Amino acid sequence: MQEYLEFLDEIIIPEGALQERIAHLAAEISRDYAGRRLHMICILRGGVLFLADLMRRITVPNSIDFMAVSSYGVGARRSTGDVRITLDLQTDIRGKDVLLVEDIVDSGYTIATVMEFLRTRHPHSLKVCTLLNKVERREIDVPIDYSGFVIPDKFVFGYGLDIDDFYRNLPFIGTVDPQRYHPPE
Ligand code: IMP
Ligand code: MG
Repeated sequence: MQEYLEFLDEIIIPEGALQERIAHLAAEISRDYAGRRLHMICILRGGVLFLADLMRRITVPNSIDFMAVSSYGVGARRSTGDVRITLDLQTDIRGKDVLLVEDIVDSGYTIATVMEFLRTRHPHSLKVCTLLNKVERREIDVPIDYSGFVIPDKFVFGYGLDIDDFYRNLPFIGTVDPQRYHPPE
């Protein structure tokens, strides 16, 4: 396995900046949902670190659930638009105030598909919170209610986001130098 330093191009969002922005998002969400209960749905696996840090700072009563989708073909780096739900929710969301928590919105196909799927279950409200937003790459229009950082069209890793399933545990967001990265055996 390569050490991340061997292929890191640049740390675009250091740990401190991530945590500071997440605290602001949590405060904004807590204000917006004051007097209500919030049901957060995290899309596995990239959103888990963000959810964990965000929920710790949310002050309204909240519950969580998880779902998983697959969009990329094996080894692929971009969405095909063919997004499949691979893990369904464990809880009924009918009548709940649902907030979808995502690591990154890229083409928008994942969020669009998940929202369409969740709407069929009749939540009271449905909003989207993404940590990262690759605005330039949007192919389908999706409403984003809370956005942590707009980032350039570069492949990023760390803080939940993987390269070939690894490096999710790093506390910052970095870009990859493809010349120096070699996929694990
Ligand atoms: P979309 O369907 O194109 O919006 O893609 C969203 C999903 O693609 C995210 O949930 C990530 O799992 C993945 N993704 C998009 N860009 C990146 C990236 O730069 N690094 C790691 N994963 C990414
Ligand atoms: Mg993801």
